[in-house]
Amino acid sequence: MRTARLGQDADDLPVMVLLLRDESGTIVAYRNLCQHLPVPLDGGTGELLSEDGAHLVCGTHGATYRLHDGYCVEGPCEGMALQRLHVREDRGDLYVSDTPDSR
Ligand code: FES
Repeated sequence: MRTARLGQDADDLPVMVLLLRDESGTIVAYRNLCQHLPVPLDGGTGELLSEDGAHLVCGTHGATYRLHDGYCVEGPCEGMALQRLHVREDRGDLYVSDTPDSR
């Protein structure tokens, strides 16, 4: 799991990115922004994963997101999904754009 900053959005909010490998080993990127309220999942603590490492968890109210598609399976924003970003790996380097990934 890595985090990175991608500048600011149109509302001048910092765009923080979560980069991780899902259950199948595929690298995925999500904007670190809860779908319940516009706050980072970790609230700046760096704690993002459930105890078993199987989900991303929002530290504010406990929304629980799947790793492979960012879908919220439990919590106040159940049924919504994290904003997935396009990520590309090239010779060990990761390139992320703030263009939403349609996968
Ligand atoms: S702000 Fe994330 S669950 Fe409420």
